[in-house]
Parts: sequence; structure tokens; C-alpha cells
Amino acid sequence: MSVKLLSETPAGAIAIHPISATEWEGWAAGQSEAVANWARRNRFAAEPGSQLLLPAADGGLAAVLVGVDAAPDLWALAGLPATLPDGDYRLARDYPAAVATRLATGWLLGGYRYTRYKAPKSEPAAALAVPGAELAEAREVAAAVALARDLINTPAEHMGPAELAAAAEALAAEFGAECRVLVGDELLAANYPAVHAVGRAAARAPRLIDLRWGAATAPKLTLVGKGVCFDSGGLDLKPAAGMRLMKTDMGGAATVLALARLVMARQLPVRLRVLVPAVENAVAGNANRPGDVLATRKGLTVEIGNTDAEGRLILCDALAEADAERPELLIDCATLTGAARVALGPDLPALFSPDDALAENLLRHGVAEADPLWRLPLWAGYAKWLDSPIADLNNVAESSGAGVGGAIVGALYLQRFVTATPAWAHIDMGVWSDADRPGRPKGAHAMALRALDALLVERFGG
Ligand code: BES
Ligand code: MN
Ligand code: ZN
Repeated sequence: MSVKLLSETPAGAIAIHPISATEWEGWAAGQSEAVANWARRNRFAAEPGSQLLLPAADGGLAAVLVGVDAAPDLWALAGLPATLPDGDYRLARDYPAAVATRLATGWLLGGYRYTRYKAPKSEPAAALAVPGAELAEAREVAAAVALARDLINTPAEHMGPAELAAAAEALAAEFGAECRVLVGDELLAANYPAVHAVGRAAARAPRLIDLRWGAATAPKLTLVGKGVCFDSGGLDLKPAAGMRLMKTDMGGAATVLALARLVMARQLPVRLRVLVPAVENAVAGNANRPGDVLATRKGLTVEIGNTDAEGRLILCDALAEADAERPELLIDCATLTGAARVALGPDLPALFSPDDALAENLLRHGVAEADPLWRLPLWAGYAKWLDSPIADLNNVAESSGAGVGGAIVGALYLQRFVTATPAWAHIDMGVWSDADRPGRPKGAHAMALRALDALLVERFGG
């Protein structure tokens, strides 16, 4: 990516002027007749997201005008790098450091592309100096978002359980963390039976990725991510349209690895643990069947009402292990249900937590970081929908509750396995955007990552 931030403003850098619609008339009034005419001819009125190139007398580029909101968010400049001519630019406006840093982050994200299989037609080469921005901060956040997106965008063929584990190991190596990976039958010996049961039918062995970093005495922060590298639905096979995007079913894992990257880069004073059960939900003669009863790490037995509710099965073993340590904070991210997407659409992950203060803090950071979430309830009245006549619980609601409140039911299932940790948040997320927006191209959509990062910085100090 040759979209960059500059620490010094080079002589001759072209000015970028962010202007809000309400400021526009006054701004234009202070310009030459030629500039005012040019803007009028191009119908530029500083609407958010609009931009105007001002030509120089010699045919060069004199300056760039960009319409922004009065309080510009992360994405305010994200449309520029891919559309401006190559060159060096400077932001010709002073913002408070936090805003400047956010704008700088958005600039970098505006250069994100997924290029593994196809070279881009043109490679943007635009560099920006942003006065007052913390460049290292902007670069770390952009790198974390890019990591999550790259992992999610990579097709299942090249992002199986082994490759996901390799990504975690590479991250661990970069930051001096420890990473242990249980593979295949080792999961049985180490008592992760549900992870094994879901993943055993795939040609690629299931795994439990366990990354640790930080001082053993520091407050424990544990992140759990759903790492289903492809979700065919298992024997209760998904129809074609529902299967099409299931390479993204490791989006929770991608999100927690990206969040771990930020925690380590910031050197937050925590004992970080990341648990990612990584499997492929495939079909073979040894696949788990509807009606089977699985053992779980916690000792609860689970009747399989539907093999397509596999995420909660692998997560319940990882959450039981996380919960046994009673971390100060436990967060899981998962592409758990289509129902969350039906309820809240593609841009709002569903947040569940028994801890009101934790939930409210995370929602607040979501708004502040332009990375919003929406809370749904762990409605205890529906918990009995998960009853099974022959096991401790069913993995889906079969009679009462079938087909309704699916995101809540999924969260209630997970809650059965988090019994010792009060500060737990479960985020049911979509991680895919069909919309093509500045800084957020169609494809992998890293959600809740920056909101969570801000929460951790506030809670543990940065
Ligand atoms: N990975 C899916 C959920 C999903 C679907 C995420 C679409 C993102 C987009 C999950 O494993 C699943 O299949 N859930 C089922 C649960 C049902 C069987 C209770 C669902 O949502 O249909
Ligand atoms: Mn599924
Ligand atoms: Zn799934």
C-alpha cells in the first residue's frame, strides 16, 4: 500500500481543505473570483463526501477541497487517497490531536485493497501530512483493520484452520507472545470435545489456538473468536445463497487477532489470552449428525438440533476454558447467527452482556469511534427454549422459539458456559459489506474492533 502518512510537510505539498457545508459560503467568499466560479461550475457546496480539485494556472493541482461534517469522523478523508493524483498532500486545517489522528487513520484505510489474487489496475501513491496527528497510533489502527480484513477476505482454501493458526503464530512471533496450538486428536486428549466434534469431518484438522502475552500478574483479559474457516452447515447443509459468503465465518477470530495486535502494540498492562477454536464445518461420513449428543469441556451434554449452529459448539469449549480462569474481562466475537444480521442489518453488530456498565461503555466507544454496536438482551425468559429431553441443552431452539429471536438464543446458549466471569461481552457480527464506501470497500468489514480497542485503552490504561 503506497498510501502513506508523512511526518514532515514537504515543500510543495498540495493543500487539502476540509470544509463543512455550513462553513462553505463564508469560505468561498474569502477566495478569488476564479475559485468561487470554479466551485459553482462544479456544483461543489462542501457536502460531506464531496471533493473538488482546484487547478493551478500552469495546469497543475493547486489545492483540494473536501466536504466534511462539522465533527469529521474516521471516514471523512477516506475517499481521497484512491481518487487524488499521486503526490504529497498536507491537511490545511488544525484539529485537536484525537480528530487529526482519526482523519489520518481514515486516510490510510482509504488505501486498503485486497490484492492477493489480482493486481490493482492502478496503485494509488498519495502521501499526507496531518498536523497534530499521532502517526504511530494511526498506523497501528490501520494495520489492525487491514489484518482483520485480509484474514476475512482470503478464501477458505487459503485460510483453513492451519493458516489461521499460522496467522496467530506470526502475530505472536512479532510481539513476543506465546502461542500453543492443539491439533486434531490432541483436542480430545486436552478435553475440547465439541471443537473436535464440529471439525473432525473436514479434511483439514480442527485446532484450538491459544495465544498468551503479558505479565502473569497483570489483570486478565481474554478474547475468544469464532474461527469457522468455512461453514457448509454440516449435514444440515446450507443452501447455495447462504453458503456463498461462509469463508467469512472466521470473522470473529480475525477480529480478536486484530484486537490482540493492538493490545500488544500498545503494550497494555494486561495478561492477554486469545482463544480461537479453528475448524471447518464440513460433511463426511464422520460428521456429527442432527440428534447426536456431544460432550463439552464444561461437562454439559448438548443435543445437536442443527449442525449449522456449529459456532456456539466450538465457542462453548473455548468459553468454558476462558471462564475457568475468571478473567477480569472476557470478550467473544463471532459470526454466530444470520438472525443478528436480519435484526440489525450489515453495519451493526449485536452486543450481549450481563454487565450493564460494560455494555454501556462499549456502546459509547462505538459511537465515539464511528464503529457502532447495538445491544440486544440476554432474555432469561427464552433460556428454556434450549431445553433438550435427553441432554443438558440443545444447540438450537426447536419447538417453542424455533426460528425467532435467533441471535438472543445463540447468546443464551453461550451464557450457559460463562458462569464465573461477570464482565463478559458477546458480539454477534456480520463482517461483510456489500456496500462500496470510501475506506470500506465491498468485502471484509472489520466491525467492533476500534470500539473494543478504545474500551480496552480506557479500562486498562494506554
Ligand atoms: N455462520 C452462521 C451464521 C451467519 C450467517 C453469519 C450469515 C453471517 C452471515 C452460523 O453458523 C449459522 O449457520 N447459524 C444458523 C443458526 C441456526 C441453525 C440456529 C443461522 O443463523 O441460520
Ligand atoms: Mn452454521
Ligand atoms: Zn457458522
